[in-house]
Amino acid sequence: MQARIAVVTGANRGLGLATSRALAEKGFHVIACARDSEAGTQAVQALQADKLSVELRVVDVNQSEQIKDLGRYIRENYGRVDVLVNNAGMILETREAGGDRSANPLLVSPMTVMETFNSNTLGALRMIQALALMMPEGGRIVNVSSGMGQLSDMDGGWLGYRMSKTALNTLTRVFATELAERGIAVNSVCPGWVRTNLGGENASRSIEEGIDTIVWLASDESATESGGFWRDRKRIDW
Ligand SMILES: NC(=O)c1ccc[n+]([C@@H]2O[C@H](COP(=O)([O-])OP(=O)(O)OC[C@H]3O[C@@H](n4cnc5c(N)ncnc54)[C@H](OP(=O)(O)O)[C@@H]3O)[C@@H](O)[C@H]2O)c1
Repeated sequence: MQARIAVVTGANRGLGLATSRALAEKGFHVIACARDSEAGTQAVQALQADKLSVELRVVDVNQSEQIKDLGRYIRENYGRVDVLVNNAGMILETREAGGDRSANPLLVSPMTVMETFNSNTLGALRMIQALALMMPEGGRIVNVSSGMGQLSDMDGGWLGYRMSKTALNTLTRVFATELAERGIAVNSVCPGWVRTNLGGENASRSIEEGIDTIVWLASDESATESGGFWRDRKRIDW
């Protein structure tokens, strides 16, 4: 029987790399997407060295053509996608820099907000549009969101990042409805504050803790719900 196919974006490091490993260890064939071919190759070779079924595709989620190529490649070679983890994401706003990239919403450039939105939100939209119609019944889409996008717990600072994740949660709700008839589950996850490049070394959680709910929603038989925002395998408010 053909292995189930999982696609993970931003798979060269951090939560994306660990999610790729975990899904491959569960028997998926993982199509690990990274925008940097060298970083992606290194990451994928390390997984392959452990005899895991993983291959690299170079995909920048801002590049529609690369995503269309990915869709064509998967259609021709596998004909299906069982799991899509929209993990790629970044924060451009920083505390240190004033001006255009300031974490202060009174200073940040709207272009910075738009760039963040392009990667973190529209990147996931492009991936869903390219792959969702190849998902069989039982397919799962996991959008890696953040508590920083949670309207019920909204705080100051990091306007672009917060808006991008709130809007990613909108994608989750809309596609959970749109894809319900096809039997595809769509959920958002907040991984918590995790020690990655993005989270920094002072973050409270390990990468293993951070991916737990992502992998559970992507692959576990007990995770059957759709249209939720999750942390630690429990629903949280939007
Ligand atoms: N760490 C946390 O505390 C935390 C908390 C809440 C949510 N999250 C979310 O978790 C996800 C993963 O982050 P992480 O913590 O693992 O951070 P990370 O180590 O910085 O990894 C981010 C990954 O996303 C990739 N990426 C960024 N922009 C991309 C683009 N346009 N196209 C393709 N790949 C792109 C990066 O690629 P490059 O290596 O090429 O830059 C990298 O592989 C993000 O969506 C983030 O918002 C993280």
